[in-house]
Amino acid sequence: MKAIILAAGKGARMQSDMQKVMHPMLGKPVLQYVVEAARGAGFDDITVVVGKDGAEIERELGSKFDGLYFAVQEKPLGTGHAVLAGAGRVAPTDDVLILCGDMPLVTSEFIDDLMKFKRDNFSDAVVAAVYRDDLGDFGRVYDDNSYFIEIVEARDIKNHARTNWANTGIYMFKGRSLLRALGMMKNNNSQGEYYLTDVPKIISEDGKNVQVFHTRTSMSVFAGINTQEHLAEALAHMRVRVNSRHMANGVRMIDPTTTYIDDGIKIGRGVVIYPNVIIEGACEIAPGATIGMGCHLTDTTVGEGVHIRQTVANGAKIGANSDVGPFACLRPGAVIGQNCRVGNFVEIKNANLADGVKAAHLAYIGDADVGKNVNFSCGAITANYDGEKKHRTTIGDNAFIGSNVNLIAPIEIGADAVIAAGSTITDKIPPCALGIARERQCVKLDYKNASQ
Ligand code: UD1
Ligand code: CA
Repeated sequence: MKAIILAAGKGARMQSDMQKVMHPMLGKPVLQYVVEAARGAGFDDITVVVGKDGAEIERELGSKFDGLYFAVQEKPLGTGHAVLAGAGRVAPTDDVLILCGDMPLVTSEFIDDLMKFKRDNFSDAVVAAVYRDDLGDFGRVYDDNSYFIEIVEARDIKNHARTNWANTGIYMFKGRSLLRALGMMKNNNSQGEYYLTDVPKIISEDGKNVQVFHTRTSMSVFAGINTQEHLAEALAHMRVRVNSRHMANGVRMIDPTTTYIDDGIKIGRGVVIYPNVIIEGACEIAPGATIGMGCHLTDTTVGEGVHIRQTVANGAKIGANSDVGPFACLRPGAVIGQNCRVGNFVEIKNANLADGVKAAHLAYIGDADVGKNVNFSCGAITANYDGEKKHRTTIGDNAFIGSNVNLIAPIEIGADAVIAAGSTITDKIPPCALGIARERQCVKLDYKNASQ
């Protein structure tokens, strides 16, 4: 089945350099939600109509889906003109769905209902109308017992009767009727545009069966995005949807209104999420983990039973039952084993921590391989950067790195070695050895009396 999604026009009211439909919303561009809704309802051949500066759209979305095509509408001469630009793949026998690219909340379920209505009524065209108390800028849909009469744009209203049925901008057409009517559109209206809303009228004047599908589905499903404020409102609706899905799967959210999870992230059963959490990108959270207040996780994998609090993690991997935070910073390539402890003000970057490693406070571990059960004491760091290049630190199993140690990379610390607190280590330490590199303590007796 074929669909055409209208996405031309930059959306001047967004006041943005980005194409309107490419604005991100919980991890995906607005338009991608529309494509996925059509996909979910079985439309496997989708043409997106973009404006002449819409190459960015094709670049970003084209590779994500099979059967996604792009057509360019050179000038924004109206919604009907846009469908004409995108109708190249439509055959007379097709059923064609029309959607707007700026309506990310439209659902596959709604499209399914619309298709079923068209099938049950043997319609040549169906216009989807939604009930609203206040029609605002929406086109007004007039029908007689569900038989379509006309759509009147808000700005073209004169002595028309009052109605509560708004044009959603979503339609289904029989290919033959659509193609014929597109060729007969005129632009003799207040905007001088080719209105898609004239198309069902042309088809019904041709004696064909054109019907109105009335829905009382929540208006938010049809909300279009024209401003940054609309985008934020739509995001809030999408957040509710995404979070409800996780809660239905057994995720416990203390405050879903402040929990922002990108669409499509896998979160296991029994996970508890505290307020003010952002989980975005390619994250995966295993069952039984606890994501404490204020975590911002990006592209991060969290193992079973992990407890993580007030932590920023980007491109990290945290093994089962490890405890992270508060106030840890995990940067790309931080791979933490099982049963580790990464405490407050610990930063880890491009480093592998084997199981049972403890860095409980105030440490930096960068460009390192740290063996099992290593203790990385308070204030210890890897000095990985010489001003030009990054170097690696290797620490064997069960080594003990004392407080305030500097490990000047490249360096190797053997298994079971002990590094005395306060040491700056520049040479390799063999297994089981003690490394100590600091001034001997000097005590001056009676110092205070003598200096007076
Ligand atoms: C349109 C409908 C209106 C309906 C409303 C629902 C018409 C004439 N009016 O009005 O009845 O209530 O949608 O939201 O169709 N587009 C193009 N090329 C163009 C013009 C528009 O691709 O030349 C695309 C836009 O990117 C957008 C969609 O078509 O995704 C709708 O266009 P918009 O200008 O928002 O139409 P409305 O005035 O809202
Ligand atoms: Ca609109």
